[in-house]
Amino acid sequence: MKLGAWQTLRSPLQQEFQTFNTNINYSFSNPRVISKTNNAIVTEQGLFHNFNSLNDLPNKEWLKFQKSWFVLNPKARTKEVLLHPAKFPEELVENFVKFFTKKGQTVLDPMTGTGSTVIASLQNGRNAVGIELLDKYFQITRQRVIMAKDAIEQEEGEHSINVAAKLVQGDARQMKKMDISQVDYCITSPPYWDMLHAKGFETQKGRKEKGFDVHYSDDSRDVGNISNYEGFLDALTGIYAKVHDVLKPGGYLTVIVKNVKKGGRIYPLAWDLSRRLSNFFILKDEKIWCQDNVKLAPYGYGRCWVSNTVHHYCLNFRKDCG
Ligand SMILES: C[S@@+](CC[C@H](N)C(=O)[O-])C[C@H]1O[C@@H](n2cnc3c(N)ncnc32)[C@H](O)[C@@H]1O
Repeated sequence: MKLGAWQTLRSPLQQEFQTFNTNINYSFSNPRVISKTNNAIVTEQGLFHNFNSLNDLPNKEWLKFQKSWFVLNPKARTKEVLLHPAKFPEELVENFVKFFTKKGQTVLDPMTGTGSTVIASLQNGRNAVGIELLDKYFQITRQRVIMAKDAIEQEEGEHSINVAAKLVQGDARQMKKMDISQVDYCITSPPYWDMLHAKGFETQKGRKEKGFDVHYSDDSRDVGNISNYEGFLDALTGIYAKVHDVLKPGGYLTVIVKNVKKGGRIYPLAWDLSRRLSNFFILKDEKIWCQDNVKLAPYGYGRCWVSNTVHHYCLNFRKDCG
């Protein structure tokens, strides 16, 4: 049986995983060359050095990314992704993908949600591999990829490359069985422990009224349902160890995460993960993502100090070059 690129299919080898694969023709134009030196091309966008093996950025963009914090206020979400309670914005992923990969390389997200990593990667000429446990989010990502394919293929440019999207619906802990080839970079964000189950968490009431999810699922494989903090850390560490297995030597992993407040104390999830992952990755440095358009709430007013946490850690790890 010949399967069309558009079909969602169950792999004959792994019936338990639903997969979706498609290829996209990505076109682009290089910036206009003003002059050349021995080791660089001078363009209106800056210098492109030919010894840059990490990315396709000009020197000015490289420098901009070196700052350890940035402000990014996500745009209002589109209708199709509102169902998901904790999506990160495509603009955020795009900046990281453009720094940590070149066109034609492959980006993995083992907890894809509604597909921000997949879409941002494809829109920038990278191959994308996404794993998501829940069918409802897998289907949203699949639809978004189909729409993105149309839009990307309408863009015109002097050069073109073929990029592929591979989506797998299943438990990321089973990654070994998912037939994933080596990837160049991974960017991902886990459930922030079981915080979405906390009563009154952030905008729960408003979301409930609109029929959107207030937590991901009741599925026991959903790591956001592990109530024991150490058990949750174990599960996440196990998933990132599997990412380590498929990442190329010297490749980077970015984990976007917050420390978590629960029962009047802080669980330093970002720091605990940094320490645990340092057993097999090299912890490089964090970039701090700040939001400054969040309405502040007077938690603890007149009694005690409780912050409004409007920053996330983008933790950057590197796999040893071997
Ligand atoms: C913070 S969200 C990711 C959001 C995503 N970055 C986006 O922009 O839409 C975490 C995701 O992990 C998924 N998840 C939870 N347990 C999982 C598991 N064992 N394997 C794969 N995905 C899982 C949840 O369903 C949820 O969509």
